[in-house]
Amino acid sequence: MLSAVERYTDYAHTGPGTLGGKLMRSVWQPVALSDSVEAGRAIPVQVMGEEFTFYRGETGTPHLVAGRCAHRNTQLSVGWIEGDCIRCFYHGWKYDEHGQCVEQAVENPGFASKVSIPSYPVQEYLGLVFAYLGEGDPPPMPRYPEFESGCVVDAVMMDVPYNFYQNMENSVDTLHVSWVHRKSNFYSDSRLSDFKGDEKKVGTLEGSIVEFSADETEYGFIFRDIYDNGSVRVSHFEMPNTLHIKVWPVDAESGWRDFVAWKVPIDDQSYHNFNLTIAHVDGAAADRYRAHPQNPRNSGRGAQWLEIQRLGNEILAGRSRLTVEDVGELAKSVNLQDYVAQRGQGLIVDRVHERLGQSDKIVILLRKLWSREMAKIANGEPLKRWHWPGHLEVTTGAH
Ligand code: FES
Ligand SMILES: [Fe+2]
Repeated sequence: MLSAVERYTDYAHTGPGTLGGKLMRSVWQPVALSDSVEAGRAIPVQVMGEEFTFYRGETGTPHLVAGRCAHRNTQLSVGWIEGDCIRCFYHGWKYDEHGQCVEQAVENPGFASKVSIPSYPVQEYLGLVFAYLGEGDPPPMPRYPEFESGCVVDAVMMDVPYNFYQNMENSVDTLHVSWVHRKSNFYSDSRLSDFKGDEKKVGTLEGSIVEFSADETEYGFIFRDIYDNGSVRVSHFEMPNTLHIKVWPVDAESGWRDFVAWKVPIDDQSYHNFNLTIAHVDGAAADRYRAHPQNPRNSGRGAQWLEIQRLGNEILAGRSRLTVEDVGELAKSVNLQDYVAQRGQGLIVDRVHERLGQSDKIVILLRKLWSREMAKIANGEPLKRWHWPGHLEVTTGAH
């Protein structure tokens, strides 16, 4: 008889009704950036193959309802906001924030009360809009008190054109950092890199990874990279899809930053990467950090990300190489390097043809936890109640 890990191995598909989709829908997920919608406006949102409408009422309260009107299914986001209701652009049916139809033109009295569309609980936190898309009552939403004050939190979203689980695995696969990013603005180990940008050398990891370890916890798992100089880098993974690591300094003043990332499928071949970057600076130092050209929110990121994808596709097609000669300074871009490695696995990697080794032990633990929880869903058993304790140490491994 096959074990859960052998049997429940479809990590890539998260549409409605799939086991992976049910696991992902069992917790709160970010679905939009808070600043993506002003009061009185609506946008379409797609998550795990489902369409939604995210809008703010006229006073700014966020609401999430179905993507389409119940009447003849046009896209609701192009409609009008009235108070906390949304009115369909096509024939004017009006829905309240609970999805109840409250007004129709030229219809029999009483028809509206029989019509409703799904609505979902939403909460805004740290610049992200979280929604609970699962069945039953939502679990408590994780909170990160240490990021709520005395720091600068930048929330960004990047849409990535391949399956989200490839990035999930990449997130915990720290060996790739020594290779994919060996000549980058992320990692400048003196023995592996010839990149010597002085500013970016602040706080680098001076060593090579010789071993990994990972242990299941109440929130997911803790994982460690052990370096040949004896230092240990500690990171965390919050089940089912959230990474907590330290990221490199943009300057000495703001120092190593915390980074929390949710990988949320748009559909099976693309995902939203919702990233929080947290710099522990206050006052004038916070203003300087906000103005820094490498602050995650500063200009050009959207255009640069499109250029990175274009260059990545050129490299994968063999028309370019990942070198400064071919693609300029973007050769050192962590995002371009990751794109080439992960999109290079295909739109959805074929895991049947892998040869895993002991260096994959953290990836294997991630899959094991997913397989075990998916098996519980398949068998109608209760899922593990993941609990983020509020604060955990995340370290760089630097001395
Ligand atoms: S499609 Fe929305 S009112 Fe007709
Ligand atoms: Fe990477």
